[in-house]
Parts: sequence; C-alpha cells; structure tokens
Amino acid sequence: MEILVTGGAGFIGSAVVRALAAAGHGVRVLDALLPAVHPSGRAPQLPAQVAFRHGDVRDAALLEQALEGVDVVCHQAAMVGLGLDLDDAPEYVGCNDLGTAVLLAAMNRTGVRALVLAGSMVVYGEGRYRCPEHGEVAPGPRRPADLDAGRFEPPCPRCGAALLPGLVDEQAPGDPRNVYAATKLAQEHLASAWARSCQGRVLTLRYHNVYGPGMPRDTPYAGVASLFRSALARGEAPRVFEDGRQRRDFVHVADVAAANLAALHALAARPPGSARAYNVGSGTVHTVGEMAAELAAAYGGPPAVVTGEYRLGDVRHITADSTRLRTELDWRPKVSFREGMAQFAQAPLRV
Ligand SMILES: NC(=O)c1ccc[n+]([C@@H]2O[C@H](COP(=O)([O-])OP(=O)(O)OC[C@H]3O[C@@H](n4cnc5c(N)ncnc54)[C@H](O)[C@@H]3O)[C@@H](O)[C@H]2O)c1
Ligand SMILES: [Zn+2]
Repeated sequence: MEILVTGGAGFIGSAVVRALAAAGHGVRVLDALLPAVHPSGRAPQLPAQVAFRHGDVRDAALLEQALEGVDVVCHQAAMVGLGLDLDDAPEYVGCNDLGTAVLLAAMNRTGVRALVLAGSMVVYGEGRYRCPEHGEVAPGPRRPADLDAGRFEPPCPRCGAALLPGLVDEQAPGDPRNVYAATKLAQEHLASAWARSCQGRVLTLRYHNVYGPGMPRDTPYAGVASLFRSALARGEAPRVFEDGRQRRDFVHVADVAAANLAALHALAARPPGSARAYNVGSGTVHTVGEMAAELAAAYGGPPAVVTGEYRLGDVRHITADSTRLRTELDWRPKVSFREGMAQFAQAPLRV
C-alpha cells in the first residue's frame, strides 16, 4: 500500500511511520512541525525511504500533490492537549477540524477512499459509572466547588451516592469536556459524513493514554506520563494531581502503531460508505498515582508527591473496553505496564 501519514513527525505518527515502513509499505509524511511539539523545528529521524513534506493539512493544494498515487490516509495530525486556554480554541479547531475537512475534501477530489483516523478516548468525557441504586449513569461536569474541597469522585447525578467506575465501550455517547475533546469528536463526525457521501471507508482508533519513547517533553499540551518523566529528568518528584486515584489505561506507543497497521489492513474488507470506531487500550487499569510511582522507581528518582491540585477539563476516570479491537482486528497489546514504564523511564524524550 502507498500510505500518507499526516502528523507523521509526531510522537505516535513517527512510530506508525516506522512500523509501516518496516512492513514494506510505501510511506509519505505531511507534517507542519508545530513549534509547541517540535521546538527545534526539525523533523525526527525517519526511515530513509519515507518521503517527508513540511506543510499544513489546511493547505489544499499541497494535499492534492501529497495524495497523488496514495491508497490510504492515516490521519494523525492534530493539535493535542487539554484545550485549557480558550485563546487556543481557534487553533485547535483550525488544526483538527478545519484541517480534517480540507483533507477529506482533497481525498474526495483525488479519489482516495480509505482513511484511518487517530481518535481519542476524550470523546467519552467521564466514561461509565454504576450507582448501587440507579445502575449505569453518566455524571455531569465536575464542579469547581467539589474539586476545591477535595471531592474528586463524581457523585451519582440522580441520588448523589458514590459510584463505581467501569469500562467504556464504543457505544457510549460522545460527551467532550474540553475544547480539544470537542475537536476530536467533530473529526469523527466529519469523517463519517465524508464516508457516506463518497462511499469511503473510515476506521477510527480511539487511543487511550499513549506513552513511550519519543514522547514530547513537558509543555502545557503534553500527556501526564511526559510531565512525570520530565520532572524526574530535572531531578524533581513527579507531582500527581487530585488524590492520585484517577483511573486510566496506559497503552504503549508500539502497540498503538500495531493497531494502526491492523486498521489499515482491515479497511479494504469494510463496506463502502461506512465508519467504525475502536478503543485502543491495554485493557489494564492503573491509577495516575500508580503510574507516577512506577516511573519514579524505575528512574531511580524521588518518589511522587500527591498535590491535590486539579485541572477543570480533566475527567476523573476513563478506561476502555478494547474487546472490539481484539476480536475484529485480532490486535493484542504486547508491552506490559511494568515493562513499558521501565523502558520509558530510561528512554529519551523528544526535544
Ligand atoms: N498522545 C496521546 O496519548 C493521544 C491520545 C489520544 C489521541 N491522540 C491522537 O493521536 C494523534 C497523534 O498525537 P501525538 O500524541 O503523536 O501528538 P504530537 O503532537 O506528537 O503529533 C502530532 C503531529 O501533528 C502535527 N500537526 C499538528 N497540526 C498539524 C497541521 N495542521 N498540519 C500538519 N501537521 C500538523 C504536529 O506537528 C505533530 O508532529 C493526534 O490526532 C491525537 O489527537 C493522542
Ligand atoms: Zn444513584
């Protein structure tokens, strides 16, 4: 296959590019090298046969050239992070939603009908919970007064009782809780509309918390594993927000790259005009506090400290049920939490 990977200079995109090239596919990359994640302004080292193009997915003319002779697009380009600062909202929407729309229109014009989209678990918001009295419930937005008082667990929206967190599957409705999440959900809707109107096929991979070598250093946009790893590199203790008991599914970037390969191979057998989403999680739930402790121990740095701080756009618990990916695409995560964190503690971060 000849594959265009947008965002192929990024943390996940470059891992996908390496896996595709190793599997013998033709790979080309389009990446704008956003300064927030590429402060050096240079693309990372990619395999020699990979054609790199520096440019923005909002550039329709450039895209049309990049799409010539392409069988399938693997769309990883996005501005990532929490979308905390509302001044960033136009740029999030620009990169993620306008960018996706320009890409889809160019694919329509050039006859490229297959797409793998990098989605995110952030589209689910708070995920799934069970109330002893009311069964499955979806808690509302977290209130600053609760968070200030250290009440981090969301209560049952009907009776206020304590809830048990559960696994979220692909059927769960979208409930984005910040600007970034809203743009990731919109990307999925745009891709579905594209598939229906031009008989295209799209598979969306909703990644959970991805970590591993090549992760960007800490910036306001970085993932929590990168923030902890950067703190350790400075000789400081990882600072864990809330009470450290937030549940997440940490999945290694090599496993995410393998999921992309599986999805790219599965596209051809999908019905034209269809869209399907897959959670991509390791299937093992850990708390953010456990992750910080594991990383600090593996690095040999000071133990993590729990600070009680919070970020309003963060959800309390979000963990995936990735059964669909395992059964339909025959994917299995290969890197265990312990092994992955031990390796990540020693791996260099991207500069
Ligand atoms: N890292 C995670 O834990 C995680 C979790 C869920 C989903 N995702 C999704 O995975 C994808 C890759 O994320 P990542 O963690 O590798 O982030 P990253 O910032 O390392 O990579 C994104 C890449 O896209 C490029 N890019 C951004 N806007 C662009 C534009 N307008 N035109 C061209 N290139 C552009 C950036 O320069 C960067 O190289 C994104 O779609 C993100 O939403 C990531
Ligand atoms: Zn209840």
